[in-house]
Amino acid sequence: MKIALIPGDGIGPDIIEEAVKVIHAIGEKKQISLEFNTYLVGGSAIDHTGTPLPEDTLKGCKESDAVLLGAVGGPKWDTLPGHLRPERGLLGLRKEMTLFANLRPAILFPQLKSASTLKEEIIGAGIDIMVVRELTGGIYFGERGRVEETRSAYDIETYSEDEIERIVRIGFEIAKKRKKKLTSIDKANVLETSRLWREVAERVAKEYPEIELQHMYVDNCAMQLIRNPHQFDVMVTSNMFGDILSDEASMLTGSLGMLPSASLSSGKLGMYEPIHGSAPDIAGQDIANPIATILSAAMMFRYSFEMEAEAVMIEQAVANVLEDGYRTKDIMEKDMKLVGTKEMGNLIAEQIKKM
Ligand code: NAD
Ligand code: IPM
Ligand code: MN
Repeated sequence: MKIALIPGDGIGPDIIEEAVKVIHAIGEKKQISLEFNTYLVGGSAIDHTGTPLPEDTLKGCKESDAVLLGAVGGPKWDTLPGHLRPERGLLGLRKEMTLFANLRPAILFPQLKSASTLKEEIIGAGIDIMVVRELTGGIYFGERGRVEETRSAYDIETYSEDEIERIVRIGFEIAKKRKKKLTSIDKANVLETSRLWREVAERVAKEYPEIELQHMYVDNCAMQLIRNPHQFDVMVTSNMFGDILSDEASMLTGSLGMLPSASLSSGKLGMYEPIHGSAPDIAGQDIANPIATILSAAMMFRYSFEMEAEAVMIEQAVANVLEDGYRTKDIMEKDMKLVGTKEMGNLIAEQIKKM
């Protein structure tokens, strides 16, 4: 298996190092031959090559079986013009690799029930929501610009029927294997793109009579997630709404540092990354939580390599370490054992060796 590594900026290198330890542990245990190649994207790419997405990075990623990315961005590059910012590198990579489906599972490990900011009676038996976010369209990729004469700026949201259909279909397919409930989130009371989104979702729903489709406005959804998260099974939504709602959903699981993601295309090649950013405020201090990245590596085994047993092994190793009481700072609680980024990675890799 050929894995492209993109550590990126801020805490990116810290957390990728720990995920690599865990992947190595799986490789050794299961005798899987692994090849790692490291590439630049984002701020580090700008510093070394002058562009956020160098040509050889793109080529290397396309020739790999999977890409594992840390995070990009930071204050050092915040004053660059939009098309040269680190984030542009990440967006370019998603677009060039046609990674239109972004799966962001918000799952609460039972050991972290009291780390969630929600009251335990609202958390109840646990949280298990799959956020399906459209990743290569919408306002992120529409025309944008400024009109200097009027001192105004614009960002245009466009969605084609095909773009909506393929992501909504992913939502239905995932719901089919889960609790058979799909919530499509939009702002159809205001946006034309959302009205088209609803029409397409309704049409596709006819092919999935066993799935209950519900529409919800995004503002209401933001509130419902906190009021009663149990009403949700699978959510499908546009690029920007999915970005915002998934950060919100992460807090139900205890921390932004717990939420992994898989960005998929129609083939097997995928990109795997935590949903959080480069956390410049804690970079290089050995305090970042590497679990979101380690769980993203589990998703890599599941979706790109089709190695479900190995994915489950990683997830179980994380659960075991949490069960033993180890916590990084962001999920630390009374009577638990505080560990740094590196020690958390070591503990999870050791669990795999013991299995
Ligand atoms: P952020 O996600 O980096 O951080 C938000 C808060 O969560 C911070 O307090 C941070 O310390 C904390 N946090 C994030 N990840 C953590 C972890 N693993 N363990 C412990 N705490 C963690 O968001 P931000 O501060 O708004 O953005 C910082 C930079 O990251 C920006 O340049 C932004 O564009 C970029 N960003 C990149 C990605 C990505 O590469 N996929 C995603 C989001 C933001
Ligand atoms: C994410 C990030 C990115 C996004 C940024 C860095 C472009 O917030 O992966 O969630 O908005 O998609
Ligand atoms: Mn985000």
